[in-house]
Amino acid sequence: MKHLLKLLDCSTEEIIGLLDLADQLKYEKKHNISHRHLEGKSLGMIFQKSSTRTRVSFETGMYQLGGQALFLSNRDLQIGRGEPVQDTARVLSRYLDGIMIRTYEQKEVEDLANYGTIPIINGLTDFCHPCQVLADLMTIREKFAVLEGIKMCYIGDGNNMANSLIVGGLKTGMKVSVATPEGYRPHADVMAFAEGNPDFFITDDPMKAAENADVVITDTWASMGMEAEKEVRMKAFKGYQVNDELLAAAKLGCMVQHCLPAYRGQEITTKVFEAHADEIFEEAENRLHAQKAVMVTLMGNQDA
Ligand code: CP
Ligand code: NVA
Repeated sequence: MKHLLKLLDCSTEEIIGLLDLADQLKYEKKHNISHRHLEGKSLGMIFQKSSTRTRVSFETGMYQLGGQALFLSNRDLQIGRGEPVQDTARVLSRYLDGIMIRTYEQKEVEDLANYGTIPIINGLTDFCHPCQVLADLMTIREKFAVLEGIKMCYIGDGNNMANSLIVGGLKTGMKVSVATPEGYRPHADVMAFAEGNPDFFITDDPMKAAENADVVITDTWASMGMEAEKEVRMKAFKGYQVNDELLAAAKLGCMVQHCLPAYRGQEITTKVFEAHADEIFEEAENRLHAQKAVMVTLMGNQDA
């Protein structure tokens, strides 16, 4: 693996390898076993959108691995004043050992990888959120011990999270059911990947999608960059809420995941959120371990 641009690029073996390493790093962290695989290395973190979890988990993760992370906000970089990403990539490649980028267009991330010479990690684009979904898969596997055959149900907007969950879920042998309104389907590339797979089911009926699910997942109805559509979206997604009624269709004691930030009373009720808070915050913690696995795999020497 050279980069983590999107899960569509990753093989099943690569995804499972990252999850196994993430488990190991989590164990080592818990038992104070040193794992300074990235000593002397630097990660640049370019943020063109806000972040709590991604920023803090990458920065802390890099520190725990013996390296350092630089927070590069769009407001401060010349990229924000129009310097092409192609030039930024070639310059930063001469200083850094890896770049994590959170931005709008997937093309920008792909351009960084094409023009730079160092590993690029996608920290969220409008198209996908691979780091988050690695953490989700890790958390689900911690609960069920396997991923194969486990039914994941996603309710809501066919956004970056939906795209990555479908790809990550199907690649690891999960059954994936999705309920979105007609006009808010996942990206065409993801639909092309998933359609025809007997483990994939998409509908506009949330109750049908939730039937017998082991894990129910949702995300905000208005992702970053879509603030102007908020009112229209609130109407379009009415009925796509993860609440007790919906969970009654899923397996008894099913797991609930949310990448956060969560909007209570919109995509999830306060009651469901609080009842599943432990597994949701475990999911948030696992960002740290999963991303450390990504950084060690792409930037480091595991024998260190
Ligand atoms: N889930 C997630 O990516 O959170 P942040 O936007 O806080 O980084
Ligand atoms: N779909 C959300 C995820 C936030 C982590 C967004 O893109 O804003």
